[in-house]
Amino acid sequence: MKTVLFVGAGRHQRRAILQARERGLRVVGVDRNPDAPGLADSDVAEAVDFTDVDAVSEVARRHAVDGALTVSADRAVPVVAAVTERLGLPSIGTACAHLLTHKIAMRRTLAYAGVSQPEFAAVRDRREGRAALATVGLPAVLKPADSGGQRGVFRLDSYDDLDAHLHVALAESRSGEAIVEAFTDGLEMNGIVIARDGDAALLTLSDRLRPPGIGFGVGWIHVYPASIYGDQLELAERIAVQAVQALGLRNGIAFPQLIASRDGKVVVVEVAARIPGGQMADLVRHAVGVDLVEVALRQALGEEVPDEIALPRFSQPLAIRFLTAQPGPLPTGRVTRIGSLDPVLAGEGVVQADTYLQVGETIRPVRLDGDRRGYVIAVADTNVQALARAEAAAQLLEVNVE
Ligand SMILES: Nc1ncnc2c1ncn2[C@@H]1O[C@H](COP(=O)(O)OP(=O)(O)O)[C@@H](O)[C@H]1O
Ligand SMILES: [Mg+2]
Repeated sequence: MKTVLFVGAGRHQRRAILQARERGLRVVGVDRNPDAPGLADSDVAEAVDFTDVDAVSEVARRHAVDGALTVSADRAVPVVAAVTERLGLPSIGTACAHLLTHKIAMRRTLAYAGVSQPEFAAVRDRREGRAALATVGLPAVLKPADSGGQRGVFRLDSYDDLDAHLHVALAESRSGEAIVEAFTDGLEMNGIVIARDGDAALLTLSDRLRPPGIGFGVGWIHVYPASIYGDQLELAERIAVQAVQALGLRNGIAFPQLIASRDGKVVVVEVAARIPGGQMADLVRHAVGVDLVEVALRQALGEEVPDEIALPRFSQPLAIRFLTAQPGPLPTGRVTRIGSLDPVLAGEGVVQADTYLQVGETIRPVRLDGDRRGYVIAVADTNVQALARAEAAAQLLEVNVE
């Protein structure tokens, strides 16, 4: 029996942990939080802070694991790479993991390779911030060099905005660095790329729609297939693969994020080296019939990933509507009652839905990924119809607030 190490065992990892066990693998889970939901479902649970590479390596050695992976947790990607490299297990390598998790290193590498991206500059203090804005212009986007989930990400419309937000962006970065980029207006898209032995292939490309205002970076709707077409679609497909190759990922699942602007251009926002959170694995499963967790498990264990497993089996239009505050379907305020999910699940075309809302929590306007409090996935003959169905079904969850 083979043993696989899950680095991080939170809500997003839990289903993958169960799937690994159903597949006959022995699962070792590590998470700093001893009550992490995935730990209870692991064969072996270790309450270890996964940012401690030595401690995680010790766990991996002690349980003689055959491979390691993470799902959705960007901060675990360099840890998985370091532990697997140290133990001589299948690994993307620490150098590659750095390029895929550190936004400045990533941008530099993409620039060398000539991959289309916004103007950018690295920033460690206010003086560099002002110089960066002079270079990239306004509006701009400020982000921590190494963080995720929209934490510390701000749109800058003035030099005052830089002064107001720089300390937060820097504080979110473990290396105390931020990046300032030209704001690119347009349609954001998510790609899923599978790299096998250096050969990268695009599996899905979908629209990632965002709310107006402070939550401008949060994906609150996904629509498959993407709504661009013709030359721009071809360009986006090419850039998604090119970015993954430029960053040197030879075996792994990559998550390129792109923006298509109205003038026909496409730029790379970032590329992650993992199964994304936010129901993207569900999107891939319903849209093209590929099981990303199975692919990730095989790659972690150094097993072959044949075409039958890695290539699209069909193409099913769908939409995912996250449950977020207005103008999303949820009210804002303190939750006093959560109605049944049944009417939502019975909605036309609905194939999956869930909510993480809890009585007593406060629903706030959308600002972070974490403000998504559930989701509805609907399929249809076209992506437009699928979105209408997902929107309609999302309205069927009754939530009372005070
Ligand atoms: N240069 C940019 N122009 C426009 N929007 C951007 C830009 N960079 C980031 N964003 C928006 O902010 C979001 C978060 O940025 P990203 O670089 O993906 O950071 P994170 O690691 O938090 O996901 C993106 O998904 C996108 O919606
Ligand atoms: Mg991102």
